[in-house]
Amino acid sequence: MQWGMANRLAQLIQADGHALFLPVDHGYFQGPTRKLEVPRQTIEPLLPYADALFITRGVLRSSVDPDHAKPVILRVSGGTSMVGKDLANEGLTTSIEEALRLNASAVGISIFVGSDYEKETLLNLARLVDEGERYGIPVMAVTAVGREMEKRDARYLALACRIAAELGARVVKTYWCPNFEKVVIGCPVPVVMAGGPQVNTELEVFEFVHDGLEKGSIGVNLGRNIWQNDFPVAMIKAIRALVHQKATPKEAQEIYDSEKGKEKKRS
Ligand code: 5RP
Repeated sequence: MQWGMANRLAQLIQADGHALFLPVDHGYFQGPTRKLEVPRQTIEPLLPYADALFITRGVLRSSVDPDHAKPVILRVSGGTSMVGKDLANEGLTTSIEEALRLNASAVGISIFVGSDYEKETLLNLARLVDEGERYGIPVMAVTAVGREMEKRDARYLALACRIAAELGARVVKTYWCPNFEKVVIGCPVPVVMAGGPQVNTELEVFEFVHDGLEKGSIGVNLGRNIWQNDFPVAMIKAIRALVHQKATPKEAQEIYDSEKGKEKKRS
């Protein structure tokens, strides 16, 4: 592996082999997502506990100070919205030169396997991998499910993750699902888990993250279940303990319960 590629991956995946990515890219198709309305307010308190931010160039430039930044995974696909015809019809929004200018450690792109735009999004990934490899920039493929959350099953996610890896993604982001080992076993590059919409209890989050880690995921790219929580700093500290300190779900819950007392409830 080229030095630059290896170095960038090492900025993202920590020495213990694990990673906590904090995605705040949701506005690129959802607009002002709940509790991400003012990105700086959401990002700043959480930044010390994240290994990297998954973010668009617009929010990076406007809402993150360059002298206090963490490694950046730059979201470079988009062009659709919640109110448009088809979320899957994404193109590339940001050039590789812009990723270099912004000192990105990686670029991230969604693929929509099984959608009407499967071919286009997969070819976008392949093109981005070609460009990224030229400059030593890893590509994280995001196995998007659009509005069809029922696609969060092992058969579908294993298919999408494997295709992403075959096309050259260096890291794949997917969703946790029952029988998650089937997703990880079939994917020859590191897998990180997203959370999707906020679930009912913190313990549910701790349990699925723990299960996914046990089954071979290297960590998380977890957004709404952290920053939509009433106590996001307590939440990210608990998730960090799962990812980097091998905490159990019960221990993560104890961390959350004790840390939330130190934090003002987020309105
Ligand atoms: C949005 C994304 C997000 O980065 C990803 O879904 C993770 O966030 P969350 O845990 O909130 O689902 O790709 O398109």
